[in-house]
Amino acid sequence: MTGGAGFIGSHLCRRLLENGNRVRCIDNLHRGAWENLGDCASQVELVTADLRNLDQTLEALKGADVVYHLASIVGGIGVYIKHASTVWLDNTLIDQNVFRAVIQNRISRLFYASSGHVYPEALQQTPSGPDLLEDMAYPAQPGLSYGWAKLMGEKSLGYLLDEHQWLHVALARIVGAYGPNQDIDLDTGAIIPVLCHRAARWPDLQPFRVWGTGQETRSYIFIDDVIDAFVRAVDALEHTRCLGPFNLGNHGRVTISRIVDTVVSVSGKPIDVFYDTAVATRIWGQAADTALARRLLSGWAPRVSLEDGISRVYEDVARRVAQREGHA
Ligand SMILES: NC(=O)c1ccc[n+]([C@@H]2O[C@H](COP(=O)([O-])OP(=O)(O)OC[C@H]3O[C@@H](n4cnc5c(N)ncnc54)[C@H](O)[C@@H]3O)[C@@H](O)[C@H]2O)c1
Repeated sequence: MTGGAGFIGSHLCRRLLENGNRVRCIDNLHRGAWENLGDCASQVELVTADLRNLDQTLEALKGADVVYHLASIVGGIGVYIKHASTVWLDNTLIDQNVFRAVIQNRISRLFYASSGHVYPEALQQTPSGPDLLEDMAYPAQPGLSYGWAKLMGEKSLGYLLDEHQWLHVALARIVGAYGPNQDIDLDTGAIIPVLCHRAARWPDLQPFRVWGTGQETRSYIFIDDVIDAFVRAVDALEHTRCLGPFNLGNHGRVTISRIVDTVVSVSGKPIDVFYDTAVATRIWGQAADTALARRLLSGWAPRVSLEDGISRVYEDVARRVAQREGHA
């Protein structure tokens, strides 16, 4: 697994061990930390390597039967805008090195973590939709270099599949995964862990700032449901050479204000919310149609409700904040 010390990697690692696999986690610890693996860390092979370096990548992937490729520069939208060229250079380079290593090491099954950011931003300018269908990615016009890099990754895999008949690939366009172990940094984290962080530190940390109007819509899927889909997708590669690209997200959309209200209610605190519209909203609505995933991953459907998921994140974030502050 590349990116094994990150948010999704840490959960995938636990599941793969539970399922009886031998696991190697590769990461350069740019954003991830081996501590995320908790007690799993002692049961997996930990490889600290920079996948921007081809030699290190070739070595790190040697001997694998399956590669879950998760390593990438990931952040909130502010990171993608501020560091657009780094995101492009690093993410395309990491992908190309990993794909080369998969071919050279003749690893027959590869899972690629793509993103809902591959879709044109023009389709995401109203809170009400449309829900994004897989074929809407073309004609291509992602708004961010992050989305372009994922689209290039998908495209590269199409060429690899044509040339190497022994290769099997699953491509999931993940939309709004959230859960414990996610980055809670106020500048680089995604909205749910960041709001939980703000709530856990309220009233010491004020104001309780939410960027935008609250009327924007998104869809979020709890990490356990994401991992179920990953494992099913790789199992399905027994019978098919190319699975996807398919949207991996939750059905339906929620307003940001509902997310905020849920976090506030879970925290049990009388928080005053400040919607900050100083920065123009870039994406007004983002939700994916998930019918294809349900069809391809027979029997799969998201199960964890938003309320349950946010309570579990709040608990995790409150514990980490207390630890940082030396209270636990
Ligand atoms: N979380 C989501 O909602 C979401 C949505 C769409 C796509 N994805 C994709 O899923 C994958 C995992 O995302 P995540 O949320 O766990 O992010 P994350 O940042 O927690 O994990 C990514 C990991 O990649 C590692 N990494 C970065 N550069 C590296 C390099 N040069 N060499 C080795 N390791 C490197 C980081 O240290 C980090 O541990 C990413 O490819 C991301 O683009 C995630």
